[in-house]
Amino acid sequence: MADVEHPMGIKTVGEASAVATHMLRHEDINGSNRLFGGRLMEWIDDAAGIAARLQCGGNVTTAAIDTLEFKHPAYLNDIVVIEAWVTHVGNTSMEVRADTYVIDPASGERTMINHAYLTEVCVDDEGHPMTVPWGLVATTPEQHEECDGARRRAEIRKMRRAEGV
Ligand SMILES: CC(C)(COP(=O)(O)OP(=O)(O)OC[C@H]1O[C@@H](n2cnc3c(N)ncnc32)[C@H](O)[C@@H]1OP(=O)(O)O)[C@@H](O)C(=O)NCCC(=O)NCCS
Repeated sequence: MADVEHPMGIKTVGEASAVATHMLRHEDINGSNRLFGGRLMEWIDDAAGIAARLQCGGNVTTAAIDTLEFKHPAYLNDIVVIEAWVTHVGNTSMEVRADTYVIDPASGERTMINHAYLTEVCVDDEGHPMTVPWGLVATTPEQHEECDGARRRAEIRKMRRAEGV
């Protein structure tokens, strides 16, 4: 994938990030007495959109959500935390990783209940894609690993799109 020029400079991984906390209420629960998946998807989309806006400094729209994995259920009164951060900047698009946890209020222990990658696109006032003004650089080995994976995932998405599968 060709390197893209980002006119405003570079942000480090983590600068563009968002944390959202929710306590599950009756309106968040489905007929099986668990967190309604669609509600969580809305919260994830929100957090990812905020992280992406902090990366590009403007407006974004969600182009795609993939690898949305519901790993564990959550229940009424559970405390849910979503951590979202930008893992890759393409030309006009960004990948955002969003991890969702339930936190045990007594012990502070976190259980991951969802893991997702979203593609957010930086858009101008007319909603047309525009180059993300800020590039992204990883500074730790863990971030490098995540960003390498993100580049690979971006290539796979492009291939899938090009081939229509
Ligand atoms: C997202 C949108 C702006 C993309 O517009 P487009 O004309 O398809 O633009 P492009 O083909 O140039 O794609 C723009 C970027 O998004 C990426 N992209 C677009 N669709 C994608 C998809 N389905 N999956 C992954 N990436 C995608 C492209 O790879 C490109 O990335 P790059 O510039 O970093 O290389 C447009 O499809 C749109 O407005 N969709 C509706 C979005 C929306 O309403 N979201 C809210 C849903 S509730």
